[in-house]
Amino acid sequence: MPSFTHLLLLSPLSLVLYLAYQYFGRLRPLNAIPNAHFTAPFSPIWLISIRYRKRENRTVWASHKRLGPVIRLAPDEISVCTLQGIKTIYGAWDKNRWYEAFINYGVPPLVAEIYLGPHTAHKRRMANVYSKSFLQNSADIAKFNTLMLTEGVLPKIATSAATGSSLDVLRLGYAYGMDVMSAYEFGSAYGTKFLNDDEALSGFLAAFTAVKNGFFWAGRLPTMTQALERIGINLVPQEAMDGQAHMEDMCWKLCSRLQTATETDSLSPSSTKSVVYSQLYSSLEKNLEKTSSSPANDPDFLRKSVASDMLDHLIAGYETSGIALAYTMYELCMHPEFQTALRTELRSLSPPLTFPLGSEPSAFSTSTPPSTLPRILDNLPLLNAALYETLRLYPPGAAGQPRVVPRGGAVLCGYALPEGVVAHAAPYSVHRNEEVFENAEEWLPERWMGDKKEVKDWFWAFGSGRAGCIGREFAVQEMLVLLAAVYTNFSSHIVDADGIEPVDEFIAGPRAGKLILRFEKVE
Ligand code: HEM
Repeated sequence: MPSFTHLLLLSPLSLVLYLAYQYFGRLRPLNAIPNAHFTAPFSPIWLISIRYRKRENRTVWASHKRLGPVIRLAPDEISVCTLQGIKTIYGAWDKNRWYEAFINYGVPPLVAEIYLGPHTAHKRRMANVYSKSFLQNSADIAKFNTLMLTEGVLPKIATSAATGSSLDVLRLGYAYGMDVMSAYEFGSAYGTKFLNDDEALSGFLAAFTAVKNGFFWAGRLPTMTQALERIGINLVPQEAMDGQAHMEDMCWKLCSRLQTATETDSLSPSSTKSVVYSQLYSSLEKNLEKTSSSPANDPDFLRKSVASDMLDHLIAGYETSGIALAYTMYELCMHPEFQTALRTELRSLSPPLTFPLGSEPSAFSTSTPPSTLPRILDNLPLLNAALYETLRLYPPGAAGQPRVVPRGGAVLCGYALPEGVVAHAAPYSVHRNEEVFENAEEWLPERWMGDKKEVKDWFWAFGSGRAGCIGREFAVQEMLVLLAAVYTNFSSHIVDADGIEPVDEFIAGPRAGKLILRFEKVE
């Protein structure tokens, strides 16, 4: 049996052996990459600590500025900030296990589908209903947009303008993001009604916050979290488990309500179609008929699979869009001349998106073919410049999106990397490259006007490649129409923007969790 002295001698020895292995072993090729921190070749503790202390985005960007476009963050993790690097990483490399934290009902939705084959098949089941042409031609979207804007968003802003009261536009953006997303998934009669149900919105936001805070270890150190769980130590607090249960329960009820109405042939005649739900349900049903694998034999598997993706889209869609809308409004308040020019552009539409309905012709109440408005908005230079510049400066998904070097290794930006190394790029860093975005810390919408190919090439708020954002076109269309409707009719002004700076996390919304504005009606 080893004596206490033996143990004392052995522990420094094993530490030295461990460090030597880290430096000269399998990961040796990474030693040529500049270290963001002196401990990076030996230990992931520094990287975990900047993530835990919510400093990842700024620290990684500061390291890139200091050390160049490829840096080492941990023994087996690197960050890149070049277009070539992005192309290599996001071509066909698998995701890492961090994405497993996004599993719902025990079934992976698209975002948590890690491996290339299943991911491609999964995405194919619904990519068509998120294509730009499908969305622009959708009569369903035209109908529920008019409903959400004229009965939800614009009356709230009109009341605020008439009474001089202020409004939290981050919360408004979240409610709108959730209601439009769920209307597209389930149909306007079967989605959430957060714009008019503040209590339900509060319940959801509290649950979501608990989940975001509580799954840190499960996401970043999944193997350790699972090992500890097996011996009775749970690193996911009960509050986070309850939050996940709350969100799953909400989405399950939305699915069930629609499913029951469909099966009993009692769908509301005034509802828009349940576009995403129906698409996914029928394609999965067909797919399962062809397989006899074990999950397919679970009677609930089909419903859980559909619900898992429905919840994934609700979560992925509402927060990111709400953040982008709030920051666009913030910057429009900070740039009143640009706001006035934008209003002139919006009022040049024929007819414009005038509100309230009734007195003057309005694009809301004309029988303009539904396909026309999204295309018109998509071509307005100032409106698009305002939104894209906001997404550049405040990318809602700001941090590195981890991928794994495939079997056999790969060459990335001139460095030969062994398989299993984690590599990523972060929109926060990519969007701050001064060689492309001069005065990168400033909101300068004019950089988007004219033919700015390089600026567009480096725009990376929605990721890219096979696992780039499936909801990109939906999000842009919904944000453009809200901004157009609001700024045609109102001017906005800051009341309280304390804590507007983004939190330094994967999803980077205002630190204060609010943005308070007041509005004035513009005649
Ligand atoms: C401003 C709005 C949005 C932004 C900035 C945004 C950003 C992103 C980014 C950066 C990714 C890649 C994440 C990664 O690989 O780690 C992503 C993926 C994804 N987004 Fe979005 N998103 C937005 C809106 C939406 C909406 C409305 C939906 C609804 C369908 C959505 C659904 C998804 C899904 C399902 C994925 C995973 C895609 C895959 O694995 O193939 N997003 N999004």
